[in-house]
Amino acid sequence: MNNSNYRKKAPALLCVLAILAAMSATLTGCGGNPNEPRIVRVAHSQSETHPQHLGLLEFEKAVEEKLGDKYDIQIFPNELLGSSQKAIELTQTGAIDFAIAATANLETFADVYEIFSLPYLFANEDAYHATMEDLDYMKTVYASTDIAGFRCITWYNAGTRSFYAKEPINSPADMKGMKLRVQQSPASIALVKAMGAAASPMSFGEVYTAIQQGVIDGAENNELALTNNKHGEVAKYYSYDKHQMIPDMLIGNIAFLDKLTPEEYEVFEQAALLSTEVELKEWDKQIEEAKNIAQNDMGVEFIDVDIEPFREAALPLHEEMLDRNPAIRDLYDHIQEVNKNYEAGK
Ligand code: GCU
Repeated sequence: MNNSNYRKKAPALLCVLAILAAMSATLTGCGGNPNEPRIVRVAHSQSETHPQHLGLLEFEKAVEEKLGDKYDIQIFPNELLGSSQKAIELTQTGAIDFAIAATANLETFADVYEIFSLPYLFANEDAYHATMEDLDYMKTVYASTDIAGFRCITWYNAGTRSFYAKEPINSPADMKGMKLRVQQSPASIALVKAMGAAASPMSFGEVYTAIQQGVIDGAENNELALTNNKHGEVAKYYSYDKHQMIPDMLIGNIAFLDKLTPEEYEVFEQAALLSTEVELKEWDKQIEEAKNIAQNDMGVEFIDVDIEPFREAALPLHEEMLDRNPAIRDLYDHIQEVNKNYEAGK
């Protein structure tokens, strides 16, 4: 968290403590009055202009249009309720009802989610979208965390991840000796190590200050991290090695979802799908804007690297991970089939 973020968050954190205290007292509306709509809390880690927040506003609207007398959706952006990891735990225990979580943060709850951290898994963006939009297949993945106390109800695009740093990275050789932030996922740690760099797992909110203070040399993410999260202020070289496409998931507390009537469940599910539609459209628009802003206003240089050396260094991880984690095998094979249909555009 950078200083200005901290200043913004400090009063908010006090509110959060009050909210959490109230939440532990009751799971119904503010005062526990059964005649008031049940407050439904949704946490995420992005800003209020981010595509995911705009998608969630549609979720709120769609649920409240049909069930406003029963449910009042409240959205908490900017890691206001804590890091993504924390928000997952709050959703798990039912202290809040929904959160957006990167699949990298779901790996500790269901092994299958490790699949998305595999580098160069999808042939291209079309194969990625086709996989994620195949809801018949994805429903089994979505249900994989039921046993942990929450279920995924839709996905959001979080783009393609590439490395960015204070110094230019043109090939894996340039990464030797660098320390780079990764998500808290064993596969992402292994990826950075395979490139010859040191991996520094930390939560998203800590990255800006860590780069600024020289604790790390850079990180890896989509282009919105440069603008929305201001990382472009402190890291001026973004190298398009395109190593991962890691989606974000909207997860809901299982006890909350199970208590909904089938009609209500349908409303929440449709609202979630609508939020994804909005998010995907906004994503494409905002990525283009982010590149312009980063390049022209923030002075970030985008480097079109030769991807092959990065891919070569990373690919041995596929077999290693498949051997270590059999839970990803079925989805891995499924994605290879999807890839075949999209290989031409690779
Ligand atoms: C992206 C993603 C977040 C994730 C973050 C990260 O911004 O949308 O869900 O937390 O990357 O690298 O931690």
